[in-house]
Amino acid sequence: MKVTVRGLAKTFRTMDGKVDAIHDLSFEVQPGQFYTLLGPSGCGKSTTLRCIAGLERPDAGEITIGGQVVSSSSVFLPPNERPIGMVFQSYAIWPHMTVFNNVAFPLKQQKVPKPERERLVMEALSLVQMADLAPRPAPNLSGGQQQRVALARALVSKPQVLLLDEPLSNLDAKLREELRIEIKELLRRLAITALYVTHDQAEALAMSDRVAVMFGGQILQEASPRELYLKPKARFVAQFIGQVNFFEGKVLPGSSHGMGVVQTAQGDFHCTMSGVMPSGSGALVAVRPESIMVSAEQPSNGTNVLQGQVEKSVFLGDFIDCQIRVGAQLVHTKLAPTSDLCDADKVFLQFAAHACIVLPVSD
Ligand SMILES: Nc1ncnc2c1ncn2[C@@H]1O[C@H](COP(=O)(O)OP(=O)(O)OP(=O)(O)O)[C@@H](O)[C@H]1O
Ligand SMILES: [Mg+2]
Repeated sequence: MKVTVRGLAKTFRTMDGKVDAIHDLSFEVQPGQFYTLLGPSGCGKSTTLRCIAGLERPDAGEITIGGQVVSSSSVFLPPNERPIGMVFQSYAIWPHMTVFNNVAFPLKQQKVPKPERERLVMEALSLVQMADLAPRPAPNLSGGQQQRVALARALVSKPQVLLLDEPLSNLDAKLREELRIEIKELLRRLAITALYVTHDQAEALAMSDRVAVMFGGQILQEASPRELYLKPKARFVAQFIGQVNFFEGKVLPGSSHGMGVVQTAQGDFHCTMSGVMPSGSGALVAVRPESIMVSAEQPSNGTNVLQGQVEKSVFLGDFIDCQIRVGAQLVHTKLAPTSDLCDADKVFLQFAAHACIVLPVSD
């Protein structure tokens, strides 16, 4: 089912004033898509999800699910009349019940007859590989198992749209990675439209078809994970997703659509330009650490070469975060774990023109 959000706004009134949680927010989630709202704490992700769920009444805007208006200035359907399931960060499963009864609860409320109920519960538990644990009291479960039960309970009513608010953030790193893949594959198999909320960029990249990066109650950029990483449109997006080095400068004359030169304190960089930027305008060149080649010898081809001194190196197992001082700037590079370049004092850095992401400096 398709979900559309148009011009959504929500302001909370508090003791000491008001908080503009979201304003004029619009996006579309296509049927069967895994769509993620990604952003730092307080940017309005949960508020958006709660408005779609019907747990929060928006001040303005329209929400449709499967073509039906569920929220507008004149319509407001309660959560139980929306074709949605929900999973939250806190497992929110009932401790005094068994796993089976936890999952059966929504069906009981819907007065589904017992034999049918049993079949649906066991089917939902099988989906999350928890059928064996059906008789277990809920508190005797690990965090990951509790989150699986919460997922089964959200799926048991066969919702068309599943809303997930940081469902993995209480779990340890390894389990989080396992469940990421599991949830993504399960939802794809069931062809459910998923709206996922997280502040974890790795999670967003790994799971989503589309990601909307939010900041201050608005969407800064919406794209596929690949496009978001390779072609961020704003400083915040480049910085929030992955690691990045910024070099501030200005566009030199002769820059055209396609190629350009940006003058920075570290040198003149030849950059692939995605749009036209007037000569003299401020530009920010963003270069990912993994795009920078580090060598002990000066490269023979002289474009985009910097000379620097290794200041610090952090061994992280799958790579070395080698931090190199270039003038006033500390540049992060990514070296293979076997590399001994970081033991050298003086090194050369080089990156290709297409590795430069040129952004306007204004944002
Ligand atoms: N019930 C409420 N009353 C007052 N202010 C609220 C309420 N709910 C949210 N807010 C405020 O609205 C803003 C957005 O909150 P929201 O919970 O949507 O953020 P979030 O992106 O989900 O953050 P987090 O990653 O920390 O969960 C915040 O400034 C928050 O303090
Ligand atoms: Mg939240």
